Amino acid sequence: MTGAGVAVQVVKTKPFEGQKPGTSGLRKKVTVFEQQHYLANFVQSTFNALPSEGLKGSTLVVSGDGRYYSKTAINIIVRMAAANGVAKVWIGVDGLAATPAVSAIIRNRHSGEAYGAFLLTASHNPGGPHEDFGIKYNCENGGPAPEKLTNEIYKNTTTISQYFIAEDEMEIDVAKTSSTNYLVQLGTTKKFANFVVQVIDPVEDYLKLLKSIFDFGAIQRLLKRPDFSFTFDGMHGVAGPYAKRIFLQELGAAPSSLLNCDPKEDFGGGHPDPNLTYAKALVATMGLSESGAVSTHDKIPDFGAACDGDADRNMILGRRFFVTPSDSVAVIAAHAQEAIPYFKSGLKGMARSMPTSAALDRVAAAKKIACYEVPTGWKFFGNLMDDNRCSLCGEESFGTGSDHVREKDGLWAVLAWLSILAHFNAGTDHGLAANIAKFAPGLHIGQPGKSAPKQLTSVEDIVRDHWAKYGRNYYTRYDYENVESDKADAVMKLLTSKQGEITQVRSFVIDKADEFSYTDPVDGSVSSNQGLRFLFTDGSRIIFRLSGTGASGATIRMYVEKYVAPDAGAEALSQDAAKALEPLVNVALTLSDMKKLTGRDKPTVIT
Ligand code: G6P
Ligand code: ZN
Repeated sequence: MTGAGVAVQVVKTKPFEGQKPGTSGLRKKVTVFEQQHYLANFVQSTFNALPSEGLKGSTLVVSGDGRYYSKTAINIIVRMAAANGVAKVWIGVDGLAATPAVSAIIRNRHSGEAYGAFLLTASHNPGGPHEDFGIKYNCENGGPAPEKLTNEIYKNTTTISQYFIAEDEMEIDVAKTSSTNYLVQLGTTKKFANFVVQVIDPVEDYLKLLKSIFDFGAIQRLLKRPDFSFTFDGMHGVAGPYAKRIFLQELGAAPSSLLNCDPKEDFGGGHPDPNLTYAKALVATMGLSESGAVSTHDKIPDFGAACDGDADRNMILGRRFFVTPSDSVAVIAAHAQEAIPYFKSGLKGMARSMPTSAALDRVAAAKKIACYEVPTGWKFFGNLMDDNRCSLCGEESFGTGSDHVREKDGLWAVLAWLSILAHFNAGTDHGLAANIAKFAPGLHIGQPGKSAPKQLTSVEDIVRDHWAKYGRNYYTRYDYENVESDKADAVMKLLTSKQGEITQVRSFVIDKADEFSYTDPVDGSVSSNQGLRFLFTDGSRIIFRLSGTGASGATIRMYVEKYVAPDAGAEALSQDAAKALEPLVNVALTLSDMKKLTGRDKPTVIT
């Protein structure tokens, strides 16, 4: 307990323009956040948007991915929480906590539940003094604030005139686990109340949850096999400490299997987004390259994965093999019941975001399980999960997850894949399999799935078997980043105008062209303007939307998908994706007049 109480200041302020939270909170350059009162205005606007009977005396989590400006932000937010009547805050050691772990902590920390959380992250955007910072608020269910609340927060930012903050003397040290009591003035009254800052182990509650979902013993046996090797890239984000604890301590993986697992404020100068362009170390290790070309170096691990800055996204790779995020969730859905104890009684339902390929729908149809199509943004899944309609979901933007939390979960996805690999490879003769792999690669003995000795069933085998059964949704996304807003608007306007007029582009006949709008089946809320869709009679789709997560300018996303049915045969199912999609990509570029309207010859990133 500090000696005298901490006084609360009432600080006069004026609104800043543009504090509207995007798909995933407020994201801006650090230099914008560094303006005096900028962060405080947003935080007070959030407190003002929350029902005061819920906020007063509550517990909040305040943590993030450790990016530059996090510690300053934590200090401001904690002092403001104290001044606004919050009773307790939980902060991860060093201010770190993965986004899915925060969701788990809100929902089921052993010492009680939290009312909500401030997550300090700009996810996969770069960090550092000249890069991005972000803040988002999550609610009691562990998920991102619904639009109703974010709209209210935004409205408050446009009229704010003052905020409350406890004096600087609070001194918050997040270097190790601790619990400190303060006496803080109650608003502007003369009374003082207890306020507790607990610095907690950010892995503990989350790890406990994961252990209740997966068979850690089975994964451990897989990782111990001499014929199986594994690599995980933490991209210098918050996944690192989780990976060390889970993969090394709990599952016995070798330290050499971890790449970039020390969190850094600037992510080592990288772009912490797990895709073929930015996860360079992992992509090279797995024998791949950005353009999809393969390398012949040996010693390629059997399984590779990466997470983004705040560890909610994931990328899954096999040896020289990329699993598209849309395929990843479909494969998990196909095998969840047998491979993951949490799902042993089946899936309640599945869901994907609209631009995500329909691979998941095919699994859902085969299993006769409902599959929902929602707008981009994880909060839409949360509503379905809270209503017990959805157990598993995913997005093309490298997000996969389940109803164990209300955020997508990168490490969960890695463990889901390891569980599936463990399942397919259980009961094989490890020693013999290792020798076959070494001395007679390509030799298959016995039946897959039977207990006879056989070569390791690989990530690629699992995905190819999936295509053979359900068909393949060839898929690509083109991103045009940092386009001037008026040019991006011109592209969307042109596309909208074409939707009523055009019925065919080259050989592709349009079945339906519309702007996606979603009515939430649980609360009836309507989200419109969720992307322009061109659906063709052969099942192909082209979708355009503007990103909601950028910090400056506009990002146009162009999603292209083509379906090939299983009966089209092996050759049709195993084409190079870029080649298979080329005609449709050309249609998309023609439809949008992309080159002319944006002045861009090629996209910034292709995934
Ligand atoms: C965040 C959200 C996702 C969303 C992604 C891409 O990661 O949590 O749900 O898919 O952003 O959003 P964008 O608007 O940039 O396409
Ligand atoms: Zn993220």
